[in-house]
Amino acid sequence: MAEQMMQSLLASVPEPMLHLDQEGLIVQANDPATELLGGWILGRNYVTALRQPGLLSRVEAAFARAEVGEARFVQADQAGETVFRVRVTPVASQLPGLDGLLLHFHDVTHLREAEEMRRDFVANVSHELRTPLTAILGFIETLRGPARNDVEATDRFFSIMEDEARRMNRMVSDLLSLSRVEGQERMRPSDEVDLADVLNGAVASLRHQADEGKNTLEVLGVDQPLLLTGDEDQLTQVFLNLTENALKYGGAGRPVTLKASEEEGTGSMKGPVLRVDVIDQGDGIDPLHLPRLTERFYRVDTHRSRAMGGTGLGLAIVKHIVNRHRGRLRIMSEPGLGSTFSVVLPKG
Ligand SMILES: Nc1ncnc2c1ncn2[C@@H]1O[C@H](COP(=O)(O)OP(=O)(O)O)[C@@H](O)[C@H]1O
Ligand SMILES: [Mg+2]
Repeated sequence: MAEQMMQSLLASVPEPMLHLDQEGLIVQANDPATELLGGWILGRNYVTALRQPGLLSRVEAAFARAEVGEARFVQADQAGETVFRVRVTPVASQLPGLDGLLLHFHDVTHLREAEEMRRDFVANVSHELRTPLTAILGFIETLRGPARNDVEATDRFFSIMEDEARRMNRMVSDLLSLSRVEGQERMRPSDEVDLADVLNGAVASLRHQADEGKNTLEVLGVDQPLLLTGDEDQLTQVFLNLTENALKYGGAGRPVTLKASEEEGTGSMKGPVLRVDVIDQGDGIDPLHLPRLTERFYRVDTHRSRAMGGTGLGLAIVKHIVNRHRGRLRIMSEPGLGSTFSVVLPKG
C-alpha cells in the first residue's frame, strides 16, 4: 500500500527520482531515473548505482543525521554532459515502506551554459576594450619619448588616439543599449509608430555619411503611413545600424536602397506585416558566415570592421530589437553582388 502510494507519487514527477530504504537499497525509481541510471539499479545499493563521491557522502550524511542536502551529479555521454543538482531528503514517516530517503535530480545544465556564455562575454568585452587601450597607451609612450618634438607625428598620433577612444566610447554605448534591449525583450512595445517616419529619419541622419562615401541612398514605399505597434527609438536604431552597415560594407560609390512594403505574413508570421529590405551592392557575405552574423562581436573581417570604427555589436542589437517586436531578420547575400537585410514586423 505505502509502496504503491510512493510509486505513483514518483511516477507523477517528470524529473528523475529515487526512493532508498533504510538499508540504502533503491526500492523505487521512476521512469526518468531508470532512463538516466539504467533499469538495473532497482534493488541495488545506492553506492553501486550512484558512484559519484559528492553525492554519496550527502546520502551518507542524510542517513546518519537525517540531514537534508544537495550535491551535483554529472552524466556524460556522446551528446555531452548533463549536470544535475540532486536534493537528498529524509522521509519522516512512521509508515513501514515510506521511510528512508528521497533523491530528486534537477537538471541544471542550462544554468551552467548560461554561466559559460556570461564568462565568454566578459572575456570578449575585455579583449575588445583592451585593443584600443593598448594602442592609446602605446601612443602616449611614444609622444612622451621618441616623438616628443615631432609636431607632425604628434598630430597624427593624437588623431589615432582620438579614433580609438571614440571607438571605445561607441563600444560602451552599444554594450549599454544591448543590455537595455535584452532586459526589455519580454516586454512588448505598445506605442503606435509610423515606420515611414522612422525610415525617413534614419536615412536623414546618415545622409552626410552617404554623401561622403558618394553613395546614393534612397527610401522607397514610404509615400503613405506605415503604422505598427512598436518602439520608435529602437526601430530607428535597427534601420540606422542596417543602413550604416550597407554604406560601410557596400563600398564607396555603390547605391544603398531601403524598400518598405506591406504584405501578408508567411510561415510562422501569419497576418499583415511590414517588410523593409535594406539593399546594398557590395561584395556580399560568404554563406558560411550568415548563421553567426548576429552574434555579439562576430565579424567577417575583424580588421576591416575595426578600421571602419565598428564594434561588432550592431547586428546583435538589431536582432534583439526585432525579437522584442516579434519580427524576423532575414539575411540574403550573394558574394560579389551584394546583400539584403530584411526586417519583417507584425503590424499588430
Ligand atoms: N551589408 C553588409 N555587407 C557585408 N557584410 C556585412 C554587412 N552588414 C554586416 N556585415 C558583416 O557583419 C559584421 C557584423 O556587423 P555589425 O554587428 O553591425 O558589426 P560592425 O559593423 O560593428 O562590425 C560586420 O563586421 C561585417 O563583417
Ligand atoms: Mg555595424
